[in-house]
This record gives sequence, structure tokens and C-alpha cells, in this order.
Amino acid sequence: MNPRNNRLLFALFAVLISVSMVLTACSGAATTAAPAPTSAPAATTAPAATTAPAASGKGLVGIVLPTKNEPRWIQDQARFQAAYAKAGLNAEILFSEGSSATEKANVESLIAKGAKVIILCPQDAAAAAATADAARAAGVKVISYDRLITNTDAVDYYVTFDSMAVGAAQAKYLVDNAKGTGNPLYLYTGAASDNNAFLFFEGAWEVLQPKIADGTFVIKNSSEAVGLKDKPKLTRDEEAKIIGQTTTDWKFDTAKNLAESNLTAAAKTDKGNVYILAPNDGTSRSIADTFAADKDVTKYYITGQDAEEASVQYIIDGKQSMTVLKDTRTLTSDAIAAAIAFLAGSTPPKTTTYNNLKIDVPAKPSEVVTVTKDNVKAAIIDSGYWPAADFKNVP
Ligand code: BGC
Repeated sequence: MNPRNNRLLFALFAVLISVSMVLTACSGAATTAAPAPTSAPAATTAPAATTAPAASGKGLVGIVLPTKNEPRWIQDQARFQAAYAKAGLNAEILFSEGSSATEKANVESLIAKGAKVIILCPQDAAAAAATADAARAAGVKVISYDRLITNTDAVDYYVTFDSMAVGAAQAKYLVDNAKGTGNPLYLYTGAASDNNAFLFFEGAWEVLQPKIADGTFVIKNSSEAVGLKDKPKLTRDEEAKIIGQTTTDWKFDTAKNLAESNLTAAAKTDKGNVYILAPNDGTSRSIADTFAADKDVTKYYITGQDAEEASVQYIIDGKQSMTVLKDTRTLTSDAIAAAIAFLAGSTPPKTTTYNNLKIDVPAKPSEVVTVTKDNVKAAIIDSGYWPAADFKNVP
């Protein structure tokens, strides 16, 4: 063959190779797209059946949530499923069931399946650092979801609500409903292993502290908080001391037991018309039931957050005073959009940063809404957050 024919043949061969590469890439994209939304795909603790061939592994997003024991995270699961189906993204959700070891195994199994982005809501902020480090070492982007992973530089982005605003909204509700002075105040907080517990309390303290200092409220269940009542800004160590005395560990039983022992220790004069800072809906319902059962408690005001359906019904029934709606539709779609940005090699939008005790992590926090009996219909039902049919006696 003369050199000209050789060149022609070579050119033809090159064209054929390129066409076949394009076809392969297209078929890869097609197989990694999310399956059409079926009725809520099952998310399990054990790795679920893969939704796309693991071989291609392209574009898979792994989502790891802390526990199925709390309705809050079941909400996020359902909203995630809707968000990634809408975005046409291949994703898989696993639950850690309260164990940092399971969380790490979940992340590793998703990376082994080809996940290029992990959206992780840590069970324990500090323990998740090693998991984030392992993901970074594997070239995988880490999005911290709702709770910040601390003590590592391997967090690429933080998708969150404005957690200080959550605490501030809870405290504002109590302040707005208090008259005169000497009102008994009971403080409850989240798990010390969750960075959010600090942010919620910090936000609440900024609003409550002036009203504790001026005598509007008298703290009844934390000697540490009483000792710090004249300090508008607390250090993390000071917050940790108060959390140490008031933690619910995000568990319903722990919350109930603590409320019971606080009420047992309290004198009749420490009861009557009381104000309760409860950190979230699950613990709020436990604490509310406990206070309601005490004959010396004549009235109570109690906070919450998450707009869980059971708490929405409690609000309608007058058993819980307020909740803070953190619209998980927004949070999950922001997380999915951030994952898509990383998959495309770009960076998600940032409006602020959160320090995770190692670096300032870029974030774009979402707003929160206070919900009481007065606006429950508009904020929860008319907004489409939960269907009216799920509740009785909607005002
Ligand atoms: C979340 C809350 C949730 C709590 C307990 C926090 O980190 O922000 O929405 O209620 O954990 O799971």
C-alpha cells in the first residue's frame, strides 16, 4: 500500500474509534440516569440493589442519612428520592442507624460502586472526619448534609438550614409569650456529638440570655446555665457544659427521662406556667407529654423543629406550641444541585462559610419558618408540605 492509502486508512480508523467512543459515552450516560420515579424506592441499611450498572459507575451520587428511627430523616429520604428522580440523577440512599461504623461502611460501599460525590449527614460530627478523609483520598467530593462534619479539611461543601436562626426562632417564641418576671425556664438540647446542637443552642441563648439576665426567666434545670446567665456570648466549652446537663441525645426516651428527673427535683413553685426550650419535634413531644402529666404544671409553652407530622398534629391539638419548618424539599434539591455541580467539575454557590474546627466550609444556608397554630394551615398544608388528609381538626 502506498503512503497516501496508508494515511487514508489511518484517518478512517481514527474516525471509527471516535464514533465508537461517543456511542459508548452516550450509552453510559443513559444507563446512569435515574430510573423513572417509581413508588418510593426502598432505601435500606444494607446496600440496596444497584439502580444502574455498577460497571459504568459514572455519575453515581451516594447519600448517607443517620437513622430511620426519627421521622425527620424519613422525610429527607422521600424528598431526596423525588429530587434526584426529577434531576435525572443516579443516586442511592443508605442509613447509618445510629452507628458511625455503619456510616463508614456505607460510604465505602457507595464509593466501591462508583460514587463520585457523597452527601453525608453524619451520625457523629467528629467520628465522620475519618470517613470524609477516606472519600477525599478516593477522589470523591464530600457534601456535608444538614449536620457539619467536623475536624477535617475533607469537606467540600455544606448544605444546611440556618441553624442559629432555628434556635433564635425557638427562643423568640418563648420570649414573645412570657409576661412579667420569674417565669420558670427549662432548657433541653440535642446530642453533643452533633454540631447543630451547639448552633441551635447558640442561636437560642443570644435571644434568651438578656431575658434571663433581666429576670423574665429563671432557669430551673441547669446550674451551668445559671452560672453563665450574665454572659451574652458563650464559648464552645461553656455551651458544652450546658449541653452536658440538658442533652436529650436526640432520643425520645432520654428526653422523657431527663424531663421526669427535672420535674422530680423541682419544687411546686418551680412549676405552674412554664417555658420549655425543646430542641426538636421528637424530643418536644416526649418532654411535652411529661410536663402535661405533672399536676403542678398548669400551662406550658414548648418549642420544636422539623415540622414532623406528629408534631403538626400536636400543634393543632395545642399540645406543642410551635415548630420550625425546615423545608426538606429545598435542602434535598440544593444538595442534589450541589452534587450535579461537582459531577460537572464546577462549584456550587456559596453565601457564607461554617467553621468545622479545621477549615471554613463553603455553604448556602436556607431560611426557616416559625409555625404555630395560627399559621399551621398556610405554612404546612397550603404550602403542600404535608397533605391535609393526614391531620384531624385542621384550623
Ligand atoms: C437536625 C434536626 C434533627 C436532629 C435530630 C439535627 O442535626 O438538624 O433537624 O431533628 O438532628 O435528628
